Amino acid sequence: MEKTLLENAYDPQHFREAGCRLVHRLADHLSAAQGGFGKVLEYREPREALAFWEEYLRNGTNDSFAGDVLERITRVHHPKYMGHQVAPPLPLASLMALLGGTLNNGMAVYEMGMAPTAMERIVTDWLCRKVGYSDRARGFLTSGGTLANLTALLSARRNRARHDIWNEGYSGGLAILVSEAAHYCVDRAARIMGLGTDGVLKVPVREDFSMDTSLLPQMYRDATSRGLEVFALVGSAPCTATGTHDDLRAQAEFCREKNLWFHVDGAHGGAAVCSEKYRHILSGIDGADSVVIDGHKMMGMPVITTALLFREGADSYTTFSQEAEYLLTETPEEDWYNGAKRTFECTKLTSALSWYAVLHQYGEGIFGAYLDRQYDLAREFARMLDGRERWELFAHPQSNILCFRWVPAGVPEEALDNLNARMRQLVLEQGQFYLVQTRLQGRYYLRTTLMNPFTEPKDLESLVDHLEALGHRVMKESAP
Ligand SMILES: Cc1ncc(COP(=O)(O)O)c(C=O)c1O
Repeated sequence: MEKTLLENAYDPQHFREAGCRLVHRLADHLSAAQGGFGKVLEYREPREALAFWEEYLRNGTNDSFAGDVLERITRVHHPKYMGHQVAPPLPLASLMALLGGTLNNGMAVYEMGMAPTAMERIVTDWLCRKVGYSDRARGFLTSGGTLANLTALLSARRNRARHDIWNEGYSGGLAILVSEAAHYCVDRAARIMGLGTDGVLKVPVREDFSMDTSLLPQMYRDATSRGLEVFALVGSAPCTATGTHDDLRAQAEFCREKNLWFHVDGAHGGAAVCSEKYRHILSGIDGADSVVIDGHKMMGMPVITTALLFREGADSYTTFSQEAEYLLTETPEEDWYNGAKRTFECTKLTSALSWYAVLHQYGEGIFGAYLDRQYDLAREFARMLDGRERWELFAHPQSNILCFRWVPAGVPEEALDNLNARMRQLVLEQGQFYLVQTRLQGRYYLRTTLMNPFTEPKDLESLVDHLEALGHRVMKESAP
């Protein structure tokens, strides 16, 4: 008898065959990308991509679907991928995402994710210890740094603000302190919470883009004299644009003094808690009430895997609840295993599978080894740029983020932005490298985040050669 559409779609034998083909194809992809073969990306304009996939839906064949996707993505495993802060995921972690996606346990309540719930507790307890927290600390995994920062600020408001806004609603007057260079999601979180422009006190940065903490007392005084109730301070570890770290120790001290909630956005650099060599950059992080660490940035996880950690675990239970519900009514046991009580999400990804499997198979040393390699490489790249004529670094790297620009002789300052922007556009269109851009103190900079454990100094040399060749071309084309 012929199978129905649904029987066909759920056919385990078909899954086995298609799955084997897909894994073979992905292994070939990894081997080519990691070996540096081919381009990082074949850039297509959005309207071209849209037209292709619309036509594909009508006439494309299923047989070549994975191959067609692979030709139209950015190869994050390629050594010349040096762009956004997204990890080339560890292959084991990617396989665990497939496992999670197949089992589809929703995690909201314990029995809908028994194994990943226990693993999540183990992984977040381990991260809490790495941060330097006591046994009272607790954490959970959530869907990205953006959501984690919002959740942390909601917790901060619940635990520090004088009024019970969760239950009684908001009538204004609250504020947070955050560096003007912090990731935009902090500002967005505050606005979602109703704080408005007046409620986000942007602390100016020093030349290197770290928060100027010497301004905090005055800003705080000004805010309170205007009738604002400041309840939290957010530190960047590091800020996104330049990879510069705030002075967490000074921020922690200030928060203790003023009884503010201290939240550290360590989405990118929080992973340095696993590094013997670079941990010192996070000095003071153990004084934070909450910390965000993105697994999909510096810890080799697939998107989207984020840990939100609380120094006092009990604080994490009050964020979304009328009362402290961390005790079950019928038992004195802590209710850590019903995740949705503490997370924004109801149903969520079983991302603990990836993190736990990597810890289990390779041990925690893999995280420090990766971070050390990438941070070291950024320092080597900085030395290389310093040693080449006509290249200007924005600042020496504190992480693996580096901003720089080409300043050829005879080109006036006002023409440098266009020149560097045009060079970056050509890099994108040619697809042999991938890097990004940013604007700092009114000037345009090229920006790399060295995410890739396959990138070698010779790749960085050839990036600079490539950029110079493109720069000369742009100058020639625009010559009168
Ligand atoms: C410092 C910082 N915080 C938060 C975020 C947002 O994290 P996500 O993209 O995981 O939502 C980023 C992303 O680049 C970041 O660099």
